Amino acid sequence: MPITSDYSLLPPPDDSLSTAIIREQFVQTYRHQLLSTNAFWLADNPTLVVALGTIAKPETKLLYILEADLAQYGYDHLPASLIHKASLEKHSYTLAKEPMWLQGTESCKDNWAGVMAVCQAINDSGIDRHSVVVAVGGGAFLDMVGFACAIAHRGVQLLRVPTTVLAQADSGVGVKSAINAFGKKNFLGAFAVPLAVINDAAFLATLNPDLIRAGLAEAVKVALVKDGDFFEQLERDAVDAIEGDLDKLQQIIHQSALLHLRHICQGGDPFEQGSSRPLDFGHWSAHKAEGLTNFGIAHGLAVAAGLHLDALYSQQMGWLLANDYARVKSLLVRMGYDLALGPYGISQTTYQSIHPLLAGLNEFREHLGGRLTLLMLRGIGQPIEVHELDDQIMTQAINDLVA
Ligand SMILES: NC(=O)c1ccc[n+]([C@@H]2O[C@H](COP(=O)([O-])OP(=O)(O)OC[C@H]3O[C@@H](n4cnc5c(N)ncnc54)[C@H](O)[C@@H]3O)[C@@H](O)[C@H]2O)c1
Ligand SMILES: [Zn+2]
Repeated sequence: MPITSDYSLLPPPDDSLSTAIIREQFVQTYRHQLLSTNAFWLADNPTLVVALGTIAKPETKLLYILEADLAQYGYDHLPASLIHKASLEKHSYTLAKEPMWLQGTESCKDNWAGVMAVCQAINDSGIDRHSVVVAVGGGAFLDMVGFACAIAHRGVQLLRVPTTVLAQADSGVGVKSAINAFGKKNFLGAFAVPLAVINDAAFLATLNPDLIRAGLAEAVKVALVKDGDFFEQLERDAVDAIEGDLDKLQQIIHQSALLHLRHICQGGDPFEQGSSRPLDFGHWSAHKAEGLTNFGIAHGLAVAAGLHLDALYSQQMGWLLANDYARVKSLLVRMGYDLALGPYGISQTTYQSIHPLLAGLNEFREHLGGRLTLLMLRGIGQPIEVHELDDQIMTQAINDLVA
């Protein structure tokens, strides 16, 4: 590990008011790898061994943890397939125990049961920091298993195989994991870079259009703040992807995951220590809307409405051309998002009073550590950073949205 030193040593304290300080600095290099394949579990598919890379050795222990609901979507063969595959690849790793099923979905993040079950399995099967846990499931499941892996032995290696659009396009390539606590989403969590992420297109075939639509809201988000060409691709292909064109869906997921990955690796703040969160574009109101509706609105739908709200505000502030705003709205409507939050019980407020959604700004400010930093749009793929909002214009925009 390279060490750079900004070293200063003051003399030892000679009275009660003096201070001695030794300050050093070190830099750690991380590798973040995304692999794409189709049916990684097949015996002759090399993706898993490629992902293991230099740690592919007979003594490397693998523990598979699979989201239980996958069994009902036609993936019940996975344990047997993975055992068979391991027997053929025994020069590269050893299974620590038989692949195990655990419950996923948001409920697995709402208490410690899942986390402790993973920790128990890690303990019982002798998984150590040279071993690898392979987690296969949706975003919630990966968050739960990822958090357990981050705390067991102070961090065991995790290989993620995301199985939903949201998880493949966004959270799977992230470096965060968390469970919910004290009524707050993702309150207990950790930052950890996974050993590898395998985006497996075979899992996309069983997703219903609502799940695809929800996941694609994050792709629209990243296109809006990072990549105008990608936005054009979404204008062309997103509706087909929702309607079942798996090639187009896969291409959209790949581009979205790539933009997220590059942001983490090249954006200068992988562990979110600063106050700017470009990948949270549209999320300040989305998170609040989710809370206000007691999570009766799906995250993707809330994000789509949040993207629209911030695009509308950007236009009303004179930053975003009316034509560009119209493109954003048109894409979101064609993709089937309901942009009016009214049906979820979020209503208009008088022009003068603070809309409850706006209270989300304060929560976002707290979340960022005190200084509000938001992205707004001055073009498609062209963000601007703002530190203040015009409450009246935003209230008007919210009222237009919920009308
Ligand atoms: N860690 C991060 O950086 C980050 C970022 C964004 C979101 N998240 C988290 O991700 C979670 C949402 O993830 P999600 O949208 O994947 O939801 P989810 O994990 O709840 O999965 C949604 C549904 O899809 C089902 N499913 C999974 N794979 C399937 C498949 N191949 N075919 C059919 N059904 C399948 C699941 O059983 C579940 O019912 C939230 O908890 C959110 O907080 C985390
Ligand atoms: Zn999101």
